[in-house]
Amino acid sequence: MYSLYFLTERVNALKIAIMGYGVVGSGVAALLKKNSGIIRENTGAELELKRILDIRNFENDEFSCLMTKDFTDIENDDEIDVVVETMGGLNPAFDFVSRCLKKKKHVVSSNKELVAEKGSELLALAEEAGVNFLFEASVGGGIPIIRPLTRCLAGNRISALAGILNGTTNFIMTKMITERSDFSEALALAQKLGYAEKDPTADVEGIDACRKICILASLAFGSHISPSCIHTEGITKITLSDVELAERFGYVIKLIAQAKMLENSKVAIMVSPALVKKSSMLSMVNDVFNACLVRGDQTGDVLLYGKGAGKSATASAVVGDIIDCSDNSEKRKVFGWKKEACGLVEDYLNVPVRLFVRTGNSEKEKILSAFKNAEIIENSDKNELAFITDEAAEGKLRDSLSASGLEVLSVLRVTDY
Ligand code: HSE
Repeated sequence: MYSLYFLTERVNALKIAIMGYGVVGSGVAALLKKNSGIIRENTGAELELKRILDIRNFENDEFSCLMTKDFTDIENDDEIDVVVETMGGLNPAFDFVSRCLKKKKHVVSSNKELVAEKGSELLALAEEAGVNFLFEASVGGGIPIIRPLTRCLAGNRISALAGILNGTTNFIMTKMITERSDFSEALALAQKLGYAEKDPTADVEGIDACRKICILASLAFGSHISPSCIHTEGITKITLSDVELAERFGYVIKLIAQAKMLENSKVAIMVSPALVKKSSMLSMVNDVFNACLVRGDQTGDVLLYGKGAGKSATASAVVGDIIDCSDNSEKRKVFGWKKEACGLVEDYLNVPVRLFVRTGNSEKEKILSAFKNAEIIENSDKNELAFITDEAAEGKLRDSLSASGLEVLSVLRVTDY
């Protein structure tokens, strides 16, 4: 067995293994080869790809000489310093990553499910072993978000995060807004272009965005926040009537993943379609692009924007983490979050919000008797009205809606980002 060097000098190269040779894993191998010179020039890091683990055959691949199907070839190779996990899913990724950390290898992961579900345990293992568990690529693909949040903005108290963290749903919403395609047409196009999976459930139901906001909120607020605690709604029920009426109020509808520190020190966190003011920076994030707004007490709002997925962009984030491991590789970075704190997440029904409601009733009096300051807009073609309520706890607003006798066709939250 020999290894592939991308270096002119082999002294003290950081040796890397990749687990999972799919889109991201193969992107990492290609990037390490293509940009080894620029990486060395920029950072002094000498990176050597030594092994690739995948159960599939890649006989004619340029890296075929590095392939193995046996995880223990990586686990038991004391020369390997950094293991890149780009397998996805929980099993066997959790087992393999745990074992690599126990063997005192740094691990860099792009796997949002693994980080969102098992982040606490893996961070604790990394701490115990004195190595790093880094995961910049797990949120926002090529957008630097985790390092800016935890390093560049570390002098701030973060009060809120709001992100468009899923490219597939942002593409669908963009088509609904700009071309008036309905949800099914826009989804079919996303599938045709290869953005959406054959089974798009994780994207369109908000599950993917939920994992990503959990990771960001856990970092921003210091305790693990599990996806199972989060109220999550997708975009499957959004209609063109919603899009049109929201627009007449001066808003666009986006799938927003948001987390906010409340005055009672609990975290309001959810994923749902929401109305975003047309003047907001988030409203301008279109197609498959992602963005995350971070609200710091010193900086005010900072928006990080870019490609949230894709082979090269995501590989760029992985390689950034590998380089971070090479910097003082003997030292563990102080990074991560504590175990889940009981009761940290506020029930979404207690969180103050303004609601956009579309109703089949055309009786303005009924609306105004339940919501006295409501702004109302009419869609006479369809005999529908839409209104936006004042701010109140969501549960109270929903109780008033139920008691109002209105025929409620849709209810969406209005953001203040
Ligand atoms: N399915 C994800 C998206 C890929 O559409 O954003 C990146 O996590």
